[in-house]
Amino acid sequence: MTDIILLCDHLFITMVLVIVYMGLFVHGSSVGVNWGTMSSHKLPPNNVVEMMLRNGINKVKLFEADHKVLEAFIGTNIEVVLGIPNGMLMEMSQDPGNAVSWVESNVAAYVYRGGVSFKYVAVGNDPLLRSYNGTYLPYILPALKNVQGALNNVGIGSQIKATIPSSADIYYAPASNPVPSAGDFRPDIRELMIDIIRHLHSSNAPFTVNIYPFLSLYDDDHFPIDKAFFDGSPKLVIRDGANVYTNVFDANFDTLVWSLTKAGYPDMKIIVGEIGWPTDGNKNANKKNARRFNQGLIQHALSGKGTPARKGVLIDVYLFSLIDENIKSIDPGYFERHWGIFQFDGKPKYKLDLSGWNDNNSFTAVKGVRYMDKRWCVLSPHLKKPKNLGTSMDYACSHSDCSALSYGSSCNHLSVKENASYAFNMYYQFQNQYITACNFSGLATLTDEDPSDDKCRFPVMIVEDSSILRTVFYILFAVLQGFCLIFLIYG
Ligand SMILES: *[C@@H]1O[C@H](CO)[C@@H](O)[C@H](O)[C@H]1NC(C)=O
Ligand SMILES: *[C@@H]1O[C@H](CO)[C@@H](O)[C@H](O)[C@H]1NC(C)=O
Ligand SMILES: *[C@@H]1O[C@H](CO)[C@@H](O)[C@H](O)[C@H]1NC(C)=O
Ligand SMILES: *[C@@H]1O[C@H](CO)[C@@H](O)[C@H](O)[C@H]1NC(C)=O
Repeated sequence: MTDIILLCDHLFITMVLVIVYMGLFVHGSSVGVNWGTMSSHKLPPNNVVEMMLRNGINKVKLFEADHKVLEAFIGTNIEVVLGIPNGMLMEMSQDPGNAVSWVESNVAAYVYRGGVSFKYVAVGNDPLLRSYNGTYLPYILPALKNVQGALNNVGIGSQIKATIPSSADIYYAPASNPVPSAGDFRPDIRELMIDIIRHLHSSNAPFTVNIYPFLSLYDDDHFPIDKAFFDGSPKLVIRDGANVYTNVFDANFDTLVWSLTKAGYPDMKIIVGEIGWPTDGNKNANKKNARRFNQGLIQHALSGKGTPARKGVLIDVYLFSLIDENIKSIDPGYFERHWGIFQFDGKPKYKLDLSGWNDNNSFTAVKGVRYMDKRWCVLSPHLKKPKNLGTSMDYACSHSDCSALSYGSSCNHLSVKENASYAFNMYYQFQNQYITACNFSGLATLTDEDPSDDKCRFPVMIVEDSSILRTVFYILFAVLQGFCLIFLIYG
């Protein structure tokens, strides 16, 4: 009898614990995602948002205001961070009125009961990056002030805060003493940073930082790879006084904590605006590493352990990124087009759980995606010695995406001829399978047989909303022309 009572007690306590945990989960302790749309063929925003809801993705960061995308979030409770591109900083800084009209039409217009739940406005994206050579320097602080001012003016400034995403490029630990506690802001921007932080702090806005351990590895071949991950061997990365660091994320985050502390703001709230791992375009970029990094990060961020310099806190994180973007600039590297946890067509790439507790969780794909015909454009197999293959390939690649052919990538094992086929197909798919796009002076031909192998995929593109609309428009136009012709002849 007492056994049964004991068992019931245990069950009861377990149930209470489960309910308490679920409560925690519902109250926003999950990671968010960045959704960029630099794609040749975009997925319908409504279908993407439906997929996010179905998969429990409840926080998103957007890089610019696109009304079709914003409308898709109406009534969803998904928390939105909305970005203002660097190219608009000058305009935002010059006149408070410009900031007010941007805020009115892109934020305030959606703020009503059952509208869009905005959380932050991201003013610029890494505008202080060293490689911009100071282009945006004069605009950053005035733009921040004007945007927060505009949010306050229209009466939504108490819930929605303006922040500036910056990369780890703005702070550093000196090579002579590479420990987080030696960290500080770059001398050339330190004064400006202190002004920016003072403003953020006074409006109760967070500091937003983008941290990329993958890039540490990309930039330095001798970088010990395990230290980029969170399950890594307990081998020491850095000992900093009493603090011991076993992964680069913590070391990087705490370098910022120390920089903020030296600037006079030790309690500044920090959010990680971008962090992630790509799956192609580099020898370290694959699904296995991406899953290992992202899942480890999520568990770490939501464990509440914090970092050695900021113990016992949940870390607010936005993964980069939701979906692959096949026309993103590859100046930083070929991997740039492969950051997604979902493929270009909205299919999940690997198992991932954003709540941090079921690491066997499988996402489900975006629904209602339409593909073009199962048809590929390849190098004609009958040619003995194809001429000018290089020139044709370069042309095809410069107008599409051949990043998967690069060294260390999924299609790098292809032969010269298969390389050409890959390039021709990418061009053909980017051109919506227009028949004339598969020619290359007679080098190319169409096939119904999928040229993919188990590592390298020759994709078939998806049908974009706008191309359906365009087709409908063309048909209507043709019918109208027909009528006009009949009218002219017989009228
Ligand atoms: C910054 O300066 C470097 C070297 O002078 C130059 O190569 C680069 O294009 C410049 N970048 C921008 C964004 O102006
Ligand atoms: C993980 O999920 C798959 C299906 O997605 C299932 O077959 C497998 O048994 C699960 N493994 C565990 C340990 O739960
Ligand atoms: C195929 O193209 C890629 C990218 O241009 C190149 O790295 C690779 O060496 C090529 N393969 C062959 C066999 O030429
Ligand atoms: C393909 O290119 C060749 C040579 O430039 C040209 O003669 C031929 O008409 C083209 N074919 C099509 C279908 O456009």
